[in-house]
Amino acid sequence: MSSKKKRRRLRIHLPKIQQKDAPKKKRKKRQRYRLTKSGWIFVGSVAAIVLAIFLIIFIPRSRQNKALKTLGYDKATIKVIREQKLTDTLIEKQYYSDYLAQCINDGTLNMDYLPYYTVVKVSDGFDAKDFLLINRLMDKGYEEDQIQNLFKNLQYWEMTPLLIYDYQPIEQNYIDDCIAHEDVNSQDHFELSNDYYKEYSNSRAADSSQVDMLVNKTWYLSEDYTPENLTDLSSWYAAAGQQLAGVAAEAMQAWGDAGRAVGVTFYAASAYRDYDSQKNVYDNYVLGMGQEAADAASARPGFSEHQTGLTVDIAASNEDDVKEYKDTKAYKWTSTNSQNYGWILRYPEGKEAITGYEFESWHYRYVGVELAQAVYASGMTYDEFWSLYLKPWDNEACKPTQEILDASAWNKASAENESGEASPSPSASPAQ
Ligand code: DAL
Ligand code: ZN
Repeated sequence: MSSKKKRRRLRIHLPKIQQKDAPKKKRKKRQRYRLTKSGWIFVGSVAAIVLAIFLIIFIPRSRQNKALKTLGYDKATIKVIREQKLTDTLIEKQYYSDYLAQCINDGTLNMDYLPYYTVVKVSDGFDAKDFLLINRLMDKGYEEDQIQNLFKNLQYWEMTPLLIYDYQPIEQNYIDDCIAHEDVNSQDHFELSNDYYKEYSNSRAADSSQVDMLVNKTWYLSEDYTPENLTDLSSWYAAAGQQLAGVAAEAMQAWGDAGRAVGVTFYAASAYRDYDSQKNVYDNYVLGMGQEAADAASARPGFSEHQTGLTVDIAASNEDDVKEYKDTKAYKWTSTNSQNYGWILRYPEGKEAITGYEFESWHYRYVGVELAQAVYASGMTYDEFWSLYLKPWDNEACKPTQEILDASAWNKASAENESGEASPSPSASPAQ
């Protein structure tokens, strides 16, 4: 057989074998999808793009996870951080604290205060009252890093005096002073070695239309300010010739009656003093003891609460000097019950560094029952309390959200403190 014939036979034979072993259709399909050169280039490009996308997404993601892990976050928290889109901020600012991690996880993180979570211990925590203080410190001029430093090192009650003091550009000096006194200081006693307040230097007009007005060595009343509805006090409650603003005169009566009902008597030895009377009082102090000592004992004219008509100096009897009041049974009662009749002890013992006055066991200020109870429960001086809860904002931009204002409102706190406690009210006091 010639080789030509052999090839022909083979050619004829081969298709038969293929038809038997492989389905005809499949063979045709394979032929249809065979890639051309440009096809291969296309597939290669798509694969490269997919790989690039994979690398672009997953390499940084894994780097970020590593960075978050290095900061201290665990796997579960990192997942929440990603969901809340906090990754970049936390890494960029290097923010971590156990408390921050806890709040991210339990969904209580308030983003407005994020920088401050890093300095708070889990045992201390943050609430609306802390946020309010942060905003008040901002309003006073403190920067974010200063407030972080303060919250990191100090207790709440060590920071509230800063609302009275002048702005401290080097807050660390104040912190160091507080730390130097941490063995003797507490919520009931606060002393420091240095002065943080220049008295009478940044004076501002008090809002005399409010019964809760603050009058101190900053906030003053004009020379001609006279309280509304000045009322003579009866000799049953006061020394001869004493007067109070109408609302305080009524409260004095209810307070005195309540005291008598439990066998305690006290009298208003000195109540309303106009500008000129206060000038006489102050000048006499200066003559007697020099200006520095006088300033610790007496207010300069215009800066005395007595001019509000909402203040009394009380004595246990009409013959006693007010300075003997501290050792009386009446003092024991008034210093723990006066808030229930609307009065607060304005210059408490141990708070001289905040009020700017020596302890005055006899000097009470009327602010109304609800507010007086809240001030008493807070343990703060009225200067601090007012500056935290009641002061108009100097810079509206520093004001917290309405939600924080509502959650930290003093009357909300007061309502909580009162719950479950039966507090006598003036109207419930037995009449004389
Ligand atoms: N003794 C108080 C501070 C006053 O003079 O008003
Ligand atoms: Zn007084």
